Amino acid sequence: MIPAKRRTAVLISGRGSNLRALIEASETGADYPARIALVLSNKPEAEGLAIAREHGIETAVIESKGKERAAFDAEMHALLQSKGIELVCLAGFMRLLTPDFVQAWYGRMINIHPSLLPAFKGTQVHERVVAAGVRVTGCTVHFVSPEMDEGPIILQATVPVPPDATAESVAAAVLEQEHALYPQALKLLAEGKLVIEGQRVRLG
Ligand code: GRF
Repeated sequence: MIPAKRRTAVLISGRGSNLRALIEASETGADYPARIALVLSNKPEAEGLAIAREHGIETAVIESKGKERAAFDAEMHALLQSKGIELVCLAGFMRLLTPDFVQAWYGRMINIHPSLLPAFKGTQVHERVVAAGVRVTGCTVHFVSPEMDEGPIILQATVPVPPDATAESVAAAVLEQEHALYPQALKLLAEGKLVIEGQRVRLG
């Protein structure tokens, strides 16, 4: 019997290019183990919502502006549960999550970050990468833990930083890698192949 595809929600705040990569991966591979069942944005103007609609995927907006963090997270949690969501991918979701929410989804919620963690956590990553003069950067998919950009690392991809690189050129090169890496990580998660052992992830 073919196992059911895991119902996955993607949380966004903006452009949605990683969302597009996840949707395309889930639509092209008949054996891809996850299905994007819901796209949730905390901003009504997020461009990624249109990508979801083009693909006939259900969308939801829960505005975070002016809302208590705990109330916002509780609303999201209730929605995800009511839609039977099993896995969550953060894809440019620009909102800190409460420890309660993270705890409720621990091991089932992943994020993509545009650096080789633990280096360059936070925002303005590519500007800092160029200013630091590093020769290699990349991207990381990790489990979400209560501390930002600190959860157990699942996969990473590297990108060289040439001496004449700019923040824009690095961002473009890293983004291309992100689009390949995120679907691979979701596939491993949906297949149940990721075993968290403390801060490390074993590919089971
Ligand atoms: C990506 O660079 C991702 O690594 C970071 O936010 C950006 C989102 O881009 N977390 P997009 O909305 O997926 O195009």
